Amino acid sequence: MSDLAVISEKIKKCQKCVLAEKRTNAVPGSGNPSADLMFVGEGPGKNEDEQGIPFVGQAGKFLEEMLETIGMGRNDVFITNVVKCRPPENRDPLPDEVETCSGTYLYDQIRSIKPKIIVTLGRHAMEFFIPGRKISEVHGQPKRMVNKETGEKQVYLPLYHPAAALYHGGLRETLIKDFKKIPKILEKIDNLK
Ligand code: URA
Repeated sequence: MSDLAVISEKIKKCQKCVLAEKRTNAVPGSGNPSADLMFVGEGPGKNEDEQGIPFVGQAGKFLEEMLETIGMGRNDVFITNVVKCRPPENRDPLPDEVETCSGTYLYDQIRSIKPKIIVTLGRHAMEFFIPGRKISEVHGQPKRMVNKETGEKQVYLPLYHPAAALYHGGLRETLIKDFKKIPKILEKIDNLK
């Protein structure tokens, strides 16, 4: 089994926090195990919990549409969340749930995939990697920082969450515009090497 498959199996059996009690399925993540782009959202919703796959509802459809605009599909990238099990009633994940889950599994996934860019979707994923910032101020701006856990330099791109853009029409164009920056950022990273 690949590293990533081993991590997925551990996630499916995980009982480290209360979110395990009510889940139908854990949602480890899906996509290309050696993706350049890793998308990190907030947590599974109802559809994701039922299917065990991230971003399969309306927000996922919008994410796929934006991927198409940069010539990619969901199998080219890796998609996951800061918590792998659905928070009840779609409440926000609690900081200790994020820490417990991502502190273990998300870092293991990053070490295995080694993405060139981690694209955070929404404020929960941004807060995990780039704490203390306001998404309204930093969205669409790539940040190169040392990942505390892996010790590696990592590029992050904080974006608004696609669900937020669906509910607040004003954010939609901003998110689409920010998303279109991805190919140039990838190109720049390649030129750094
Ligand atoms: N929203 C998220 O943050 N993640 C999903 O997997 C689905 C919706």
